[in-house]
Amino acid sequence: MRRIFSSKEIVLGVTGSIAAYKACEIASRLVEYGARVTPVLTASAVQLVGPATFEALTGNRAITRLFDPIQNPDIEHIAVATRAHLFLIAPATANILARAAHGLADDWLTTTLLATRAPVLFAPAMNANMYAHPATQANIATLRERGCHFVGPAAGRLACGAVGVGRMIDPATVVEAAAPLVSARRELAGRHVLITSGSNREPIDPVRFIGNRSSGRMGRALAFEALVRGARVTVVTGPADVAPPYGAEVVGIETAREMAEAVQSRLEHADIVIGAAAVADYRVESAASAKIKKSGAPVTLTLTENPDIIADAAARRRPGQVVVGFAAETERLLDHACEKLERKKLDLVVANAVGEEDSGFGSDTVRAAFVAPGRRIEELSVLTKAELAARLFDRIAELM
Ligand code: CTP
Repeated sequence: MRRIFSSKEIVLGVTGSIAAYKACEIASRLVEYGARVTPVLTASAVQLVGPATFEALTGNRAITRLFDPIQNPDIEHIAVATRAHLFLIAPATANILARAAHGLADDWLTTTLLATRAPVLFAPAMNANMYAHPATQANIATLRERGCHFVGPAAGRLACGAVGVGRMIDPATVVEAAAPLVSARRELAGRHVLITSGSNREPIDPVRFIGNRSSGRMGRALAFEALVRGARVTVVTGPADVAPPYGAEVVGIETAREMAEAVQSRLEHADIVIGAAAVADYRVESAASAKIKKSGAPVTLTLTENPDIIADAAARRRPGQVVVGFAAETERLLDHACEKLERKKLDLVVANAVGEEDSGFGSDTVRAAFVAPGRRIEELSVLTKAELAARLFDRIAELM
């Protein structure tokens, strides 16, 4: 995240929703990632949360009025609007959406929204009926048409006590949605990246399954990196500890055969295919239709091999498509990776050690190497999964 947000100028517009307190966490995260944040509070936001809090968090003066005595009113809003890499309005009330959609300029925030050429991201927060109201929906449609971006809202318990769609999405997700909008790297714009991620569940009977320890963290890191570089991203994922990043199209499956089908039907439009899932190599030949009861006797399960999803993708690849696999190994890492590259006819294999303290399932770091045809090996130091994802897309760019 530091790589993406460092030195970026972000105007954080806070409007009068109960969720205004959550904007403090957004400000704090952005500052932690190296962004320069200018907080702007509307008159109603000031009733809910103090400008001093934002000033302490960002180290910048909070703008609360259009004609502040210590600023030059003619220059200041234009200067900030020109400098900004992003306008992030969080929380965004129905009122600010209406005013922005109609081009009003009656306070600092709406005035600068008209003056800026920076991307604008709204994180709506309001009562569910207000959100669903045709007027609000029409304003959102207008703003989208003009190129504004939206993150959320989420469903859940609202400040008014009702349950529905209208909660501001959590601060971490708001920041995640902002990342591609400030990213300096856009080399995957117009490209489609298809990623398999997570584990599979192969049923034994209606209540039991064979699974594995894949956390989905590598798939998530890859999807985020691709989004940040401007790609359209589809993640075909089995059960995992972490959800794919905001902005990715998510196709949820359980079994390897479901994953194979989901990948096959999307292959044609993909430019880059990456197999980060820990695909179940075997399934139970005939899963029981009713729960298997204890009988005292040993139970034998006959396992049959699943299709190889990434090898199949490589076999069908069209010219220009890049297909990358992973090889998670506990021993003879590079030998196994070279063998998999050849057997599956891949363009690149990321060999990664599993079962080590700083590398493997659930760990945030990996010891990995890139293996290309001709046994060309690039060994990497221990990297975070985010760093490995960045290095991988750099390498893929060379192949494209
Ligand atoms: N893979 C796949 N479909 C399978 C098995 C694996 O798409 N049925 C993909 C994985 O997503 C990964 C690569 O192939 O990108 C290698 O997976 P791995 O489990 O390491 O290799 P296997 O082919 O399963 O070989 P083995 O289990 O014998 O190590």
